Amino acid sequence: MLDTLPQQPADALLALIKLHNADPRADKIDLGVGVYRTDSGATPVFAAIKAAERKLLETQDSKAYLGPEGDMGFVHALMPYIFGASDPTLGGRIEGMQTPGGTGAVRLALALAKRAGAARVWMGTPSWPNHAQIVADLGIELKGFVHATNAGRVDMDSLRFALGQAAPGDAVLLHGCCHNPSGIDYSPEQWDEIAPLLAAKGLLPIIDLAYQGLGHGMEADAYGARRVLAEVPEALVAYSCDKNFGLYRDRVGAVYVMMERPDQLGAALSNGHALARASWSMPPDHGAAAVRLVLEEPALVADWLAELDTMRERMRQVRAKLAEAGHAGAVDLTPMGGQNGLFSIVPLSPEQVLAMREKHAVYMAGSGRINVAGLTMGNIDRFIAAVADVTAG
Ligand code: LMR
Repeated sequence: MLDTLPQQPADALLALIKLHNADPRADKIDLGVGVYRTDSGATPVFAAIKAAERKLLETQDSKAYLGPEGDMGFVHALMPYIFGASDPTLGGRIEGMQTPGGTGAVRLALALAKRAGAARVWMGTPSWPNHAQIVADLGIELKGFVHATNAGRVDMDSLRFALGQAAPGDAVLLHGCCHNPSGIDYSPEQWDEIAPLLAAKGLLPIIDLAYQGLGHGMEADAYGARRVLAEVPEALVAYSCDKNFGLYRDRVGAVYVMMERPDQLGAALSNGHALARASWSMPPDHGAAAVRLVLEEPALVADWLAELDTMRERMRQVRAKLAEAGHAGAVDLTPMGGQNGLFSIVPLSPEQVLAMREKHAVYMAGSGRINVAGLTMGNIDRFIAAVADVTAG
C-alpha cells in the first residue's frame, strides 16, 4: 500500500537550507528561511535564554509529563506582553495552551475553528506558504484576497471587499505584525477600521503573531491583536517564541482562545487539549521552560528586551540601506525601508530568482521573498548589484 503514495515535493523553503549548505561558494548569501542573523551572519542563542537554560539544568528535578496544555507558567507569563499588562486575561476571557512552535499554534487554531463550524478561512495573499497547506490539510475552504498593492501598500479595498463577501462564522487569518512574506503591515488606523468590520460581520479572527518585537517593539507590535480582541466576542491567537526568543528548533509556541464570557473558556479549551492529545500529545518542554524562567526574572527580561531591540535596530539599518540604494536595475528598493520584520519581497520572476542563486550565490524563496536579516554591511552591496544584474535589460 505504502508504495502507492506519490512522491511529494520537498517544502521549497526548507529545501533552500540544504541547497545553501551544499553550495561551496564562500561568498554565498542566505536570504531563505526566516531566522535572525547578526551582522556577522550568526544566529546566536539569546544571552537571557542561555542563563535560563543554565538555571533549568540546575533546578529542574523531573521531566515527568505535564499534560496536553504544556507549561502553563510559560503560557501565562507571555500574556501581559501579548494582551497588555493592565488586564492580561481581558477579565478572565482568555486562556491558552502551549504548542510545538508557531506552526503548532496555527494548526491548533485552525483545527479549533473547524471544530467550531468555520467552513471557510479568509486570508490575504501572498501569505506564509504553510498557512495554505495547513488549511488544505484540514479540509477547510480557503478564500484569498490581495494583501498588498504593487506599490507596496496594504490593499484595503481588497480586504474590505473580502470581509463584505464573508459569511458570519467564517474565520479570517490575519498576521498580527511583520507580515510574512511582504513586511507590509496594517497601520494602527487600518486595524481601527478592520476590528469593527470583523465584529459587525460575526467573523472569527485568527491572529498569527509570530514576530512580536521584531517590527516596532513588543507593545507596538501587539496593537492589531489587542484592537481586534477589544472589538469581537471570540478570537484565536497563534503565538510563536521561535523568533523573538531565538528558539527556532526548540519549537516554542502557544495558542490563546478568547471567549465572550469566562465560563465558556473551559469547554473551548478542552477541545484544544483533545486535539493536541490526538496530534502530538503534549508539546516539547525545554524551550518553553526557558522562556518562563526568563519572564520570571526581571533582570533576564531586561536582557531579553535589550537583545530584541538590537535585532530590530539592525534590521532597520539594513532596510534603510536598501531604501537608500533606490533602484537596483528594474527593482525599486525604497519601499523596503518602511516595511517591518524579517521579510520583504523583491519582485523577481522565478527565472530571476534562479539566476540570483546560480550566478550570484544568493538564496531566496521562489516568491522573491528575502530574509533581510541575512543581509549584512559586508554583503548588502553585492546583493543590490546582483538584483541589478538579473533585472538588467
Ligand atoms: C519562515 O517563513 O521562513 C519561517 O516562518 C520558518 C518556517 O517555518 O517556514
